[in-house]
Amino acid sequence: MSAPTVVILAAGQGTRMQSATPKVLHDLCGVPLIGWPIAAARTAGADRVIVVDGPQQPLAGLLPEGIETVVQPQADGTGGAVRAAAPLLDGAGPVLVLSGDVPLVSAAVIGALLEAHSAGGAAATVATALLDDATGYGRIVRAADGGLERIVETKVAGDASAEELAIREVNAGIYVFEAAALLAALPRLSADNAQGEFYLPEVLALLRADGAVVAAHVVDDPAAVLGINDRIQLATVRDIARARIIEDHRRAGVDVIDPGSTFIDVTVELGPDTVVEPFTVLRGATRAGAGCRIGPSTTLTDVVLGDDVVIVHSYAVDAHAHAGVRVGPYAYLRPGTVLREGAKVGTFVEVKNSDIGPGTKVPHLSYIGDADVGARTNLGAGTITANYDGFHKHRTTIGDGVRGGVDVSLVAPVSLGDGAWTAAGSTITDDVPPGALGVARERQRNVEGFAERRAADAGEDRS
Ligand code: UD1
Ligand code: CA
Repeated sequence: MSAPTVVILAAGQGTRMQSATPKVLHDLCGVPLIGWPIAAARTAGADRVIVVDGPQQPLAGLLPEGIETVVQPQADGTGGAVRAAAPLLDGAGPVLVLSGDVPLVSAAVIGALLEAHSAGGAAATVATALLDDATGYGRIVRAADGGLERIVETKVAGDASAEELAIREVNAGIYVFEAAALLAALPRLSADNAQGEFYLPEVLALLRADGAVVAAHVVDDPAAVLGINDRIQLATVRDIARARIIEDHRRAGVDVIDPGSTFIDVTVELGPDTVVEPFTVLRGATRAGAGCRIGPSTTLTDVVLGDDVVIVHSYAVDAHAHAGVRVGPYAYLRPGTVLREGAKVGTFVEVKNSDIGPGTKVPHLSYIGDADVGARTNLGAGTITANYDGFHKHRTTIGDGVRGGVDVSLVAPVSLGDGAWTAAGSTITDDVPPGALGVARERQRNVEGFAERRAADAGEDRS
């Protein structure tokens, strides 16, 4: 069987979403809806993938590399969408049509459909499923011989009879056509129906009337065909996708303690023996090695963790923690943070655009921004880099084995040499040479007899 050309319908207006965002760009576990059928088609070995976009081309620049697009000039129905793609189709071979709003279709479902299609020698094969709640879907009307007779639409009243509405077998919106048969039927579609649109399913009835073989292939996983027309359906599909993502990680050796409170994007990669604690959100290009402990209550977006990293009650974006790093509780890692092997960023510590060396510790109440910190350095509680002079950002450079006192401000640009010390409470504005102690504060003065004098003064006032 030759690899199919894939057409994905995505030019509908998605009015039922009540959204300024085009329907197929709504997020499903880290990937827009349209990305899901594209990925499934590619995994199933698709040749060309053509996405039908609307006239405003909201999808331009947002699709993966190598995807062709074609514009449907007006939203005149699913049949109109495939008509728009027709000039791009070769006249031969199978054409797989997918809906941009049916995201859980898998490569396995597509493979089985293509196989059923070629085994049956059909001109067209439509995927169907039995749904408990078939509301809004086109229903499969079967002939006396069990074969597919036609599909009746139910989105608006007027197309389907009461008996047809009782049918639970639905059109999945996923089809394989022989290109020649499809191209011959498309011009014959009529818009003589309740919505005044060109319905793609009418192609099946036309082909059948011509005497061609038209098959219906029942998909055994009903979730794979769930369509998203509104936010309720989006939420239903998201719940299923989320549970499946977690199941896949568990199968691969990740311990997700509480799937009910855990959100993992489909793009996230986790190594074996990593534990994901409750109330944890892992987003985007986040990757963790083996043996990590993430959470509870931790959100990571585009974060890379090496092996054996522990991150507790923390929030991190676009940061990289190497093997054995400890983070939190209550740390905030901002973009450009690199924590080298075995480093520690502790409680109420914010790090931004900084490189923290191996074994270095920033344990408490600190802000480290635009800094390069060496190895085995210890920065005391309350270390703050003053990295912004009101106009420009400046870097702070801290060497290896530095002993920073508590409550130290480092006014950048400034550097502490290897093995330097800083005294508690210092505002460091000048470089501290290697091995030196930087002290920059008022000396303490004790006022003897102060308390006694205050008491005496108070006594005078009262008299
Ligand atoms: C469609 C099917 C229905 C099926 C259901 C499965 C038709 C007429 N009905 O109904 O039988 O059960 O899908 O989910 O085909 N689109 C365009 N251009 C348009 C209109 C739609 O590209 O002019 C795209 C949409 O962006 C969407 C897909 O086609 O991705 C389906 O359109 P939608 O309006 O959601 O069709 P349904 O009412 O769900
Ligand atoms: Ca739909």
